[in-house]
Amino acid sequence: MIDLRSDTVTKPSAAMREAMAAAPVGDDVYGDDPTVNSLEERVANLFGMEAALFTPTGSLANQLAIRMLVAPGEELLCETTSHIARAELGAAAVFSGITTRTWPSKRGLLRAEDPLAIAHPNAGPYLVSTTAIAIENTHNFGGGTVQSINEITRLRSESQAMGIALHLDGARIWNAHVASGVPLKNFGAKVDTLSVCLSKGLGAPVGSLMISTKERIARARVWRKRYGGGMRQIGILAAAGHYALDHNITRLAQDHHRAKEIATACHAIAPSTIDPATVDTNIVALDISGSKISAAQFATQAKEKGLLLSALGPHFVRLVTHLDIDDRQTEEASAILTELLQSAFVA
Ligand SMILES: Cc1ncc(COP(=O)(O)O)c(C=O)c1O
Repeated sequence: MIDLRSDTVTKPSAAMREAMAAAPVGDDVYGDDPTVNSLEERVANLFGMEAALFTPTGSLANQLAIRMLVAPGEELLCETTSHIARAELGAAAVFSGITTRTWPSKRGLLRAEDPLAIAHPNAGPYLVSTTAIAIENTHNFGGGTVQSINEITRLRSESQAMGIALHLDGARIWNAHVASGVPLKNFGAKVDTLSVCLSKGLGAPVGSLMISTKERIARARVWRKRYGGGMRQIGILAAAGHYALDHNITRLAQDHHRAKEIATACHAIAPSTIDPATVDTNIVALDISGSKISAAQFATQAKEKGLLLSALGPHFVRLVTHLDIDDRQTEEASAILTELLQSAFVA
């Protein structure tokens, strides 16, 4: 089976497992785990921010971050198809009493004027006050799209002037960095809080971090424990994160190249499904609305031929390249897709 459902399906390599086995550990709830401490310091430094907090998931890192920015009854603005709005199962409302309001965008791409147009800080006693805006880079459901650093900069300066905080869901910030060449520190300089994942694309089995000021991270540490996320000898997980940062960032360019190849093969048969020029990173978002079958049927047919992919909407098929996919599998996947699209669109 060629598994292109997500870049989270990777298995830790033998060398990563060795690094995990050899990691010095301690009780992280007591702050005693040297490998976690060094990972938190390293990641904070990578983004030029003061401090970081290791979390088991990107969702928890996002939720802790927005909780630090938005009080109960206040509002967080998100893009309509953002992970926070669509895929965290209402956590902001359930755990933090935060209301969310969304702005739509094409392929998840940020235009600073869109969130600014609906922002309403200090709204008084009748309307909900906007306290923070969340952006996503790369944008997952938008098709791995890379946000323009100019738009982020513009949003930052105008929202800051309005007293509104900015959170960046950077689950795949590494892909954005490799694809755009924008230094990681430039992202850190534009936001109040940031979440990053080591388990998507970088190959770690687990692990994300929330990054911000020392003060917010100290408060988030209390909330992490309260949510049941206080973990003990997790240096073995942090060691996988160190290994991932050492070895698996620059190679993301290969994933991006392979995603483009897959998109090009699909475009050749069914041009309406995707424009390869829109594939910025490792995600191929196919729109099969012009075909005779649904995304779910397409996924079933692909599986029968040995290819796993995600059906994320009635006509939305997503394929994600990752470090367990090589050139031969890329070619095989392209051949299977060519065959399927031929019968769904042409035959
Ligand atoms: C953009 C984005 N943010 C956050 C997450 C959440 O990560 P996790 O699955 O580790 O909770 C994901 C997961 O796919 C994601 O794509």
